Amino acid sequence: MPACITTPIYYVNDRPHIGHAYTTTVCDVWARAMRLRGEDVFFLTGTDEHGVKVEKSAAAKGVTPQALADENAAEFRRVLQVFGLSNDDFIRTTEPRHERQVQRFVKRLLDSGAVYLGTFEGWYDEGQEEYYTETKAKELDYKSPISGKPLARATEQNYYFRLSAFQERLERFFAEHPGFVQPDARRNEVLGRLRDGLQDVPMTRTNFTWGIPFPGDEKHVIYVWIDALFNYVTALGMGDPDGSIAPGLHAQRAKYWPAQYHVIGKEILWFHAVIWPALLMALELPLPRCIHAHSFWIADGQKMSKSMGNFVDLPTIEGYFAKYGLDAWRWYMATQGPLQASDSDFRAQHFHDTYTSELVNVVGNCPSRVTAMIGKYFDGAMPEDAARGGEWPARCAQAVTAWTRAIDELDLVAAANAPMALLRDVDAFINRTEPFKVAKDPARAGELASILAQCAEAVRIAGVLLEPFLPGKMAELDAALGTPGGAVRTFSARTVWGALPPGTRLAKCALFPRVEAAKA
Ligand code: MSP
Repeated sequence: MPACITTPIYYVNDRPHIGHAYTTTVCDVWARAMRLRGEDVFFLTGTDEHGVKVEKSAAAKGVTPQALADENAAEFRRVLQVFGLSNDDFIRTTEPRHERQVQRFVKRLLDSGAVYLGTFEGWYDEGQEEYYTETKAKELDYKSPISGKPLARATEQNYYFRLSAFQERLERFFAEHPGFVQPDARRNEVLGRLRDGLQDVPMTRTNFTWGIPFPGDEKHVIYVWIDALFNYVTALGMGDPDGSIAPGLHAQRAKYWPAQYHVIGKEILWFHAVIWPALLMALELPLPRCIHAHSFWIADGQKMSKSMGNFVDLPTIEGYFAKYGLDAWRWYMATQGPLQASDSDFRAQHFHDTYTSELVNVVGNCPSRVTAMIGKYFDGAMPEDAARGGEWPARCAQAVTAWTRAIDELDLVAAANAPMALLRDVDAFINRTEPFKVAKDPARAGELASILAQCAEAVRIAGVLLEPFLPGKMAELDAALGTPGGAVRTFSARTVWGALPPGTRLAKCALFPRVEAAKA
């Protein structure tokens, strides 16, 4: 079945940093894992380019908002390439294909009665461009939960989305789809806020012009959040079934909707878990299957901030690439990151220790031992295993099953653990069976062949499962294990026991060099 995964679209008034790198890497690992399984995946990311923040940043720099957006969108694109991310499209909200579909969607909402012109008064968070109810504002002590700046009392005549009309349908939807928002802690927050009751939300602005004009009343521009949420469907041509805006888009991509995962940060959950589903309901479009809201990276125990100098920005990340390699960075993001309900602390020492204990000592060392012994005792040729794998085929099949289930649930830690546990078992098996001693007794040559063939085969299968996390290094491993290149290899063919024929030439491999400890 076709599957789609999305990142948030990133604001162009910021430079790429760990927050962007993290969400995009999580999605990339999932997309690669699904493709490895032979699934038809669409991985979407892009940039959010409208709104007062971009307008103001551009004015401060003395450039047009479009020029600022072009420059920073290009930077985000460049960074995706540097990171080797495998997105299938990069959508920009200033592209005509997006703007015109958004106008069509908004027109449909207006025609259906889900949008009306009215006056609104509320507590406004300027930095977040978000309104809060009296109850919520009071709870926040009338301060922005993000910037800490005071909320402003604001009145506006605007077009509103009739969110309140969707209260019951949303409650029913949440009850019927308990996995819709993940993790559970986040779902409970949404349910709590939903119980307070929904208010209609303004969906246009008149106090600035950098946005998509509201169809039929162009002194209004469409609120940046409404504009931005639609990216998930405009990229798939869902607002353009006849292909008159972007020929071919809908025909090729409509199959990817509804998305399997919208992966986002926890601070933008309300928009994704409540407003977005209500908009889709109003448009009679299917709802995404899961909104996964991760937590935050903090640094050295504190919230990251530019002024504190603990911000993991692009130059910092590139420093890690230079020292440990790209795959090591991916590994740390995917296995130590805040995918669940708690924040993760980014520490140079912890990065280093994770690299050494997992990548050097296990993922690097285990294949290196196995290929070195096959080199030494069998002249680099895959030995013949008369015992046909012993316990190993079942053990490997179990790892494949655990990995598959974990990928289905976007549980990257469990997905990484399945092959890691397999490699650790191989190490334990080597320590227990002691092939280096067996090798000294010519009468035990058959036993030696079995041990090493079993190790090589288990290492190969673990390597396949590690590929989405460590694509560069696992390609090296694949090559070292002499796996036939070029041929079309399905996931089941690659993970089945015995795919490495006896006699295959295996090369020694050193995947992760030891790196000197980080300076405190
Ligand atoms: N443009 C909106 C999203 C619109 S989606 C229809 C936006 N953009 S953003 O650039 O500010 O945020 C991008 C993402 O980065 C968010 O998901 C946010 O959670 C994430 N992160 C920003 N800082 C972060 C950390 N320190 N740690 C992890 N992720 C964080 O919001």
